[in-house]
Amino acid sequence: MKEKIEALRIEIESAMENTQTSRALYELKLKFQAELKVVMSGMRDLSKEERPAFGKLVNEFKQGMEEKFEARAVVVKQKEMEEKYASERIDITMPGKTVKKGALHPITLVKNELIDIFSGMGFKVFEGPEIETDYYNFTALNTPKDHPARDMQDTFYIAENLLLRTQTSAGQIRVMEKTKPPIKILSPGRVFRSDDDATHSPMFHQMEGLVVDKGITLCDLQGMLGEFAKRMFTSSTKVRLRPSYFPFTEPSVEVDLSCSECGGKGCRLCKGTGWIEVLGAGMVNRHVLENCGVDPDEYTGFAFGMGIERIAMLKYGINNIKTLFENDTRFLKQFEE
Ligand code: PHE
Repeated sequence: MKEKIEALRIEIESAMENTQTSRALYELKLKFQAELKVVMSGMRDLSKEERPAFGKLVNEFKQGMEEKFEARAVVVKQKEMEEKYASERIDITMPGKTVKKGALHPITLVKNELIDIFSGMGFKVFEGPEIETDYYNFTALNTPKDHPARDMQDTFYIAENLLLRTQTSAGQIRVMEKTKPPIKILSPGRVFRSDDDATHSPMFHQMEGLVVDKGITLCDLQGMLGEFAKRMFTSSTKVRLRPSYFPFTEPSVEVDLSCSECGGKGCRLCKGTGWIEVLGAGMVNRHVLENCGVDPDEYTGFAFGMGIERIAMLKYGINNIKTLFENDTRFLKQFEE
């Protein structure tokens, strides 16, 4: 009997030393219990006198082994935890995943800058609809149906009298119909024309300005534009007005700024002239004032309209308008603040 117990002890103890997992240890314990049972069943063959001593021996053996199992369990558990920590280890010195930050589109940047500059001069923003009636886009702007000036703006018609606005000037009428002078509004927005080349896109953005009050003159327009040019470009940027024609202004002017690239000496950007055309403007035509119920003998005003893309192209040195609409992130990235 004693030998059997000793043999079992040696067998289990050496197997125990080799267990590496809680699972293996648990299985070994089951095996030990089963084998112990077999050993104990040998009690039957012992005499009455021998049994108590054997029982004591078995109990001590069982207890001793259980302590060993417990001690091994602590070691195995510790090992398992260490392995788990090692496999789940995080290298905190590794660079993190960068979250890509969005940025404002250059057109939005320029639009916001224009709004900033003009609201500093007291202009309020008014946004008109992109789908306009023929009346607001043309007729009320002194451009009736058979007017040749309609040819200057190839128009997308939606229906007989409904179109995609070709100019933010439509907003002038909407404001003057509803508001009594003094008026000082700025109207940014998308406009549409059937035009497509390196400097024209079928959709582009304009910024309209309108001032109506008593005693407004062309000098006010020139002074205000001079201030705008300095703030938008450089403090030495000059403004030049050239006679032009728009049905809704009289007199009308094209406004040039001295070339920011060469400072007026003449370069490729300004085609050697030293000047760059940036906007159309003029004194609001008295017929337009009348169309909106404003008395042209009491009030005068000026209006101007500029292409936001054109300003962005000049400001950032962009030579093809398409780059503003392709949304190539390599291009857009350059405008991240
Ligand atoms: N609406 C004109 C255009 O799109 C620009 C303009 C606006 C001219 C206001 C005069 C006054 O060409």
